[in-house]
Amino acid sequence: MSKLLIVNISPLVTLAGPARPRIGPELCDLALIQDGAMLVDDGRIVAVGSRADVEPHAGDAELIDAGGRLVTPGFVDAHTHLVFAGNRADEFEKRCAGITYQEISAQGGGIRSTVRKTRAATEDQLFAAASHHAQWFLHGGTTTIEAKSGYGLTVEDELKILRVIRRIGQSTPLHTVPTFLGAHETPEEYHGRADDYVRLVIEEMLPRVTSENLAEFCDIFCEARVFNLDQARRVFTAAKRHNLGLRMHADQFTSFGASVLAAEMGAKTCDHLEQAQPSSIAALQQAGVQPVLLPGSVYAIGSQKYPAARAMIDAGLAIVIATDFNPGSSPTTSMRIIMSLACTQMKMTPAEALTAATVNAAYSLNRGGEIGSLEPGKTADFVVHDAEDYRELPYFFGDHQAAMVFAKGVRVV
Ligand code: NIG
Ligand code: FE
Repeated sequence: MSKLLIVNISPLVTLAGPARPRIGPELCDLALIQDGAMLVDDGRIVAVGSRADVEPHAGDAELIDAGGRLVTPGFVDAHTHLVFAGNRADEFEKRCAGITYQEISAQGGGIRSTVRKTRAATEDQLFAAASHHAQWFLHGGTTTIEAKSGYGLTVEDELKILRVIRRIGQSTPLHTVPTFLGAHETPEEYHGRADDYVRLVIEEMLPRVTSENLAEFCDIFCEARVFNLDQARRVFTAAKRHNLGLRMHADQFTSFGASVLAAEMGAKTCDHLEQAQPSSIAALQQAGVQPVLLPGSVYAIGSQKYPAARAMIDAGLAIVIATDFNPGSSPTTSMRIIMSLACTQMKMTPAEALTAATVNAAYSLNRGGEIGSLEPGKTADFVVHDAEDYRELPYFFGDHQAAMVFAKGVRVV
C-alpha cells in the first residue's frame, strides 16, 4: 500500500487525547492543528502535526493537497439498521397525515412490514441494497458503522442479514461492526407468544450466530408491547454466556427501568433514551454505560421529545450520537444531519457533537484504539470536508457530501 502525505489542512481536527471515551469538558477538546499535515503508510497514520514537522519524514510519499480545508476522522456511526428490503415511504405519508409511528406498528406495519419484505429477499438482493446505502454513508464521510440484524426474525433470515453485514465490511470500504438484534420485534407467527419467541432467540439463534462468528454485540428492543424487562434479562444473560457485548434500545417511548437493567447487566451502550429519568442517567453513569442518542429518529417520527443530552453530559456520561439509519423511524445516513439535530435540538455544542460522532462512538464499539481520532498508530480513516471550520459541519445542513474520504489510507470518495 502506498505512502501518503496530506498537506494544507486547515484546520486538522485530530481529536487526540486520553485513550478512553471523553466526558464533560473533554468533549470540547478537538486538539486542532492549523496548517496541519498527516503522513500515512500502509493504511496507518504515521505522523500528525504541522506541515513543518511532518514533511521532513515524508520521503517518497504521494502528496495530497487538502486545499486549505477541514480534515476530521471519518465519522463512526454506532447505531444503524443497515440491512433491509424496500422502504416505508407509504408509512411516512401516513405519519404526515397524523397517524403515529406506534399506531402504524399496532396495525401490523412498522418493523413487521420491513420484516415481510426482508424475508422475501435473497441474500444477494439484500447485499445490493446495503451496498447502495453503504455508498451513501461513505459519501457523507462515515467510514465505520455498527450494523444490526433484526428484520429477519427467523434463524435463517437473521443469519442471512448478518452475512450481508459481514460481506459489506469485507467487500466495500465501509467497516462494519455486527450486532445481533433477533429480539427487535415479535414476528407475526409468534403473535401473543413473545416468551416462545424469546426462547427461539436464546436457544437457536444465539448459538448459530456465535458459532458462525457473525456478531460482536447483542441488542434488544426493550419497550412496552415489544419486549419486557424479564425477557431482556433472559436474552442478555444468554448473550453474555456467548461472550457478546450488550447494547439496548431503551427508554424510547416509555420509561420502565430498561436502562437501569442495561446498567445492572453491564451493557456497553444504552440507545435512544428519549424518556430516560434522572435515576436512569445516574445508573448509566455509575456503570460506565455510554448513551447513544438518536435525534434523527425523534425528528423523523415527528416527536418533540429529544433525549436530555445536556443532563447526560453534566452527569459525566461519555455521550455518543448516531443515525439509527432504518426504513421506519430514521431514514438517514447523514452524520452531519445528526450533528445538526444534536446542536439545534439537544443543545450540544458543535465540538461536543463531533466528539460524540467520532472518538466516543469508536470506544462504544470497542474500537477506540483503532479509529475515531487521528493519532499515530491508528487506522487512516479520514475525511476532507468542503469546509474551513468544524462548526460548519452542523451549521450547513442537508448538503453533506464530503470532498474526499479515505478508508485505511485509500481514497474511496
Ligand atoms: O431504533 N426502535 C426500534 N427500532 C428502530 C426502528 C425500526 C423500524 O422502525 O424499522 C429504532 O428506532
Ligand atoms: Fe435502532
